[in-house]
Amino acid sequence: MRILVTGASGLIGTKLCNHLLSKGHSFHILTTRSPWQVENEQTQIFRWAPQNNEIDSRALEGVDAVINLTGAKINQRWTTKSKAAILKSRTESTRLLFDTIQKTQQKVHFINASAIGIYRSDFNKQYTESDKDFSDAFDGFVVRQWEEEAKQFEKLSCYTTILRIGLVLSNVGGAFIPLSVPTRWGLGAWFGNGQQWQSWIHIDDLIGVIDHCLQHQLVGYVNATAPNPVRQRDLIRTIAKSAGAPQFFPGLPKVVMSFFLGEMHKLVFDSIYAKPQQLLDSHYQYKFSDITSCVTDLMQKKK
Ligand SMILES: NC(=O)c1ccc[n+]([C@@H]2O[C@H](COP(=O)([O-])OP(=O)(O)OC[C@H]3O[C@@H](n4cnc5c(N)ncnc54)[C@H](OP(=O)(O)O)[C@@H]3O)[C@@H](O)[C@H]2O)c1
Repeated sequence: MRILVTGASGLIGTKLCNHLLSKGHSFHILTTRSPWQVENEQTQIFRWAPQNNEIDSRALEGVDAVINLTGAKINQRWTTKSKAAILKSRTESTRLLFDTIQKTQQKVHFINASAIGIYRSDFNKQYTESDKDFSDAFDGFVVRQWEEEAKQFEKLSCYTTILRIGLVLSNVGGAFIPLSVPTRWGLGAWFGNGQQWQSWIHIDDLIGVIDHCLQHQLVGYVNATAPNPVRQRDLIRTIAKSAGAPQFFPGLPKVVMSFFLGEMHKLVFDSIYAKPQQLLDSHYQYKFSDITSCVTDLMQKKK
């Protein structure tokens, strides 16, 4: 297959491109970066600037699938300016891809990143893809707007997959490093009472899930999470146990985190249990379905 990937320089995109290469796919990368060297003959690099509505439309030529992983980082202080960037970097880029593909009338499999942050934080509820109890908070609003843009691809009769990604655990970036480094030294702590659900996924499984969606033409909303979410305090305890480190700190209070992180502090206090019903029904075979095997793997691997 020939696949177009956006956000390819990010945590998920880098791993995905290596995987696609190993499977013999050729791919195009649309990047906001300049310059970016072509590292092999299976890869072609194109540029875009979604905020200016600029795209090199040759990036779409002959592609069978588009995997859209773009987006400004959400884990930055939420100011008026950064909120606009977080929202627009997702909605404008997705709309630009839609407008470009609409002109060429191509039939591609469109896979768009989304997030479980669309669901309302709840300590008891278990969400599947059919639930519509959505969050009114800023991150929930961003995800809803983003999904609206992605859903437009269905109008072009494209297979359309919207991946509601959980907390991606990787030892090269994302949330695992700030959680595991202090915990290795006995300084780990959860937030609040630590009872919030964390719907996590090992990075290798997320790549496997994207591949699974491509191979099996899985469409609609897909909760890209492991089947066994954990309470945040159990995540920290598992990391501490795996590192052979003590864990004695009490939870970090909300008022303190709110002072340091501002409105963004809600991300570490939210409780979302997202069950991957579509993946279970389509028999996706997880490499890491429980948190102990996931953490053990990440703590063993060298960067
Ligand atoms: N990691 C997680 O735990 C997680 C969980 C849920 C959802 N997601 C979503 O999945 C997507 C990929 O995640 P990731 O962790 O790989 O993200 P990441 O490491 O931050 O990479 C995102 C990529 O998006 C592009 N980008 C950044 N700012 C941009 C802007 N202002 N306008 C246009 N493009 C911009 C960059 O690619 P170029 O430089 O090549 O253009 C960047 O490498 C993101 O949208 C994220 O919100 C991630």
